Amino acid sequence: MDKIQSLTGMQDLYDDGSSDLSSNFFYVERKIKEIFINYRLSEIRTPILEDIRLFSRSVGSSSDIVNKEIYEFNDRNDKKIALRPEGTASVIRSVIEKKLDTFEQKLCYIGPMWRYERPQKGRYRQFHQAGVEILGITEGLPEYEMISIICSIINEFELENCTIKINHLGNQVAKDNFCNSLKDFLTPYKEILDEKDILRLDKNPLRILDSKNKKTQELLKDAPSIKNFLDPSAVKILEDIKKEFSQFCNIEIDFSLVRGLDYYSGFVFEATSSDLGAQDSFLGGGRYDQLCKKLGGKELPSIGMAIGIERLAHLIGNIVESKKNISFIIVTSNLEPKAYKIAHQLRAINKNILLDINLSNSSMKSKLRRANKHNAEYAIIIGDDELISDTAIIKPLSNELEEQITVSIKDLYSFYKKL
Ligand code: HAM
Repeated sequence: MDKIQSLTGMQDLYDDGSSDLSSNFFYVERKIKEIFINYRLSEIRTPILEDIRLFSRSVGSSSDIVNKEIYEFNDRNDKKIALRPEGTASVIRSVIEKKLDTFEQKLCYIGPMWRYERPQKGRYRQFHQAGVEILGITEGLPEYEMISIICSIINEFELENCTIKINHLGNQVAKDNFCNSLKDFLTPYKEILDEKDILRLDKNPLRILDSKNKKTQELLKDAPSIKNFLDPSAVKILEDIKKEFSQFCNIEIDFSLVRGLDYYSGFVFEATSSDLGAQDSFLGGGRYDQLCKKLGGKELPSIGMAIGIERLAHLIGNIVESKKNISFIIVTSNLEPKAYKIAHQLRAINKNILLDINLSNSSMKSKLRRANKHNAEYAIIIGDDELISDTAIIKPLSNELEEQITVSIKDLYSFYKKL
């Protein structure tokens, strides 16, 4: 029989310490959740499937995502469905549907996204994003809150070699003037441009700044810069952010930074790391003040960002969790619920400890091997003798100088409480 395998670009993630990406993935997810809670963000969870039109109207028909990366299918009623390629459009659809599109809200989400890309390291067809969307507040303080969240994430994971690039795409007038000037500059060189860039020039000239074509990049060196079209207030935001937050993270103003999705206006940013290789951006976002209205809602000034969890998981080194690991080893001749009950009580006494019980019938040696794999500081061992005498063995695993001791169950509880 043919073997059934996971689909191209999709992977199973196991939190068993067997591969870097897998175990780091769950650690990153947990830590990011803690940061989101710390910033008092409210969680939102939208469906993974959406009406496909949501994305052509928001992410935009000139984007690579809508042009060639949407995972789509017809459902049983012949309705065109998309697996969501990102979270922002769904969040805005949801607040419009719930008539919450006049409220100030700070939302966050974590979940899988799909893009039909050519799989390579750091680029998958199913990947996960953790996102933040601050809704209902015009340009100003939310920009600082966003940069603060990003700096907290970079600092939490002690990421080195990374830069937060920031830019401002201007208000609609500045953006239009810049696009026209870019178009005027590039049109005489149309035959040098490739098909993709010609399409960008027609549909959304800003996206040309993101071209990977060497010839286009060379041409762009002499092209007009958005800097000359921006209001002084827009440049001030960039300079203020750089001034106030450079102490926490490396921040660079990059007037050529544009984003791959069409809904942005105003402040935009991306965090990149030289340790990531070709796919060097692990986080991106910006302001999108027109999106809600475009999707049929009210005027809702908004700003947001999303982190690629897999990319962040690749970036962090070996994790040393701050919580202590202890292994509970039961080696009795009969199945002994009493020993298990002791473990149950230990868990209630000190919730900061990660207590692992090996549930198999394996030998003491293999149970100790598992304890070492988990970096357990101690093994608490209960055998037949200990059950009869109401005692337990505490075996140190990380400190060779410490002796193994036998203690009463009462003393075991006090020991465990103090760990
Ligand atoms: P994005 O830049 O398209 O923005 O994606 C954000 C992050 O998702 C990227 O920086 C990257 O780390 C990760 N990512 C994207 N595609 C893949 C892939 N194929 N494989 C692995 N990771 C990937 C957005 O999605 C916007 N919704 C962000 C935003 C929120 N803007 C405003 N609010």
